[in-house]
Amino acid sequence: MAKPFLKWAGGKRQLISEIEKRLPSEINEVETYVEPFIGGGALLFHMLENYNFKQIHISDINLELVLCYRQLQSSVNDVISSLEKLVDEFPSTTEERSDYFYKIRDLWNSNLDIESMTDEERSSRVAQMIFLNKTCFNGLFRLNRSGKFNVPTGRYKNPSFPSAESLKEVNQALKGVIIHHASYEKCLEWVDDKSFVYFDPPYRPLSKTSSFISYSKGDFNDENQAELASLTKELHKKDVLFLLSNSDPKNTVEDDEFFDELYRDFDIDRVFASRAINSNPDRRGKISELLIKNY
Ligand SMILES: C[S@@+](CC[C@H](N)C(=O)[O-])C[C@H]1O[C@@H](n2cnc3c(N)ncnc32)[C@H](O)[C@@H]1O
Repeated sequence: MAKPFLKWAGGKRQLISEIEKRLPSEINEVETYVEPFIGGGALLFHMLENYNFKQIHISDINLELVLCYRQLQSSVNDVISSLEKLVDEFPSTTEERSDYFYKIRDLWNSNLDIESMTDEERSSRVAQMIFLNKTCFNGLFRLNRSGKFNVPTGRYKNPSFPSAESLKEVNQALKGVIIHHASYEKCLEWVDDKSFVYFDPPYRPLSKTSSFISYSKGDFNDENQAELASLTKELHKKDVLFLLSNSDPKNTVEDDEFFDELYRDFDIDRVFASRAINSNPDRRGKISELLIKNY
């Protein structure tokens, strides 16, 4: 069974059973499945395993991530052999491992021009991305202003890398999936009244103190959340089914009605999930998440 090949902030593995319970009762009649904020794709792989859709569209605004899906779909054997090489070369002592991590990070940063790469170069870039993702601090993905990956080395004793077999399962699962490098608004072009869309946008920062990060480039601020909410209203008018997840601001500010107001026309559920990626270990506990749907 195919499963996510990257650690990804906001990964939905812990929420799958809650989402499964809330899928539309007509899910077996749905022809097109759309996931516009694909990230690590936890729900995608679950859906691919359990349902038979005629068409599947996934997208993300992160080109490096999209490249991973594309290369695993088209050239899985090249990705596997490049990754095996990195894993074989990975030293055994902590200090040497850290040096090796920075060597691969420099290599990754030395060529950012994906457009002009050969297919083989793209596959080896994806292998490097998987390697960095599994060995960097908390599996974070962060680029500086010049587009360079700047996450430091992690502190894993035994990082685990996806096996050749698991990447082949991902390759099989992605057969026929249409992979877009696009912002979520594009999904309007892929849907009709036999479609189901799952939206998992970047979280709204949970605490007031962390909200300043929402001004940084590429972040999803409150205005973006509101634009997404109006797009869901448009989908509703077109009889498209959708489910959307987000963090619950009430976790930190009890009377924060931000999403309750944005999605007042729809059904809002609060469920509990544990969040794995958080640099502050005190905040890795169980918190409530929102599941919003129009059916
Ligand atoms: C919360 S994560 C999705 C996590 C995913 N469901 C999982 O299980 O790993 C949100 C994703 O949205 C992407 N993103 C941010 N802004 C976007 C936009 N405007 N359009 C499409 N994707 C966007 C980010 O790159 C990130 O991968």
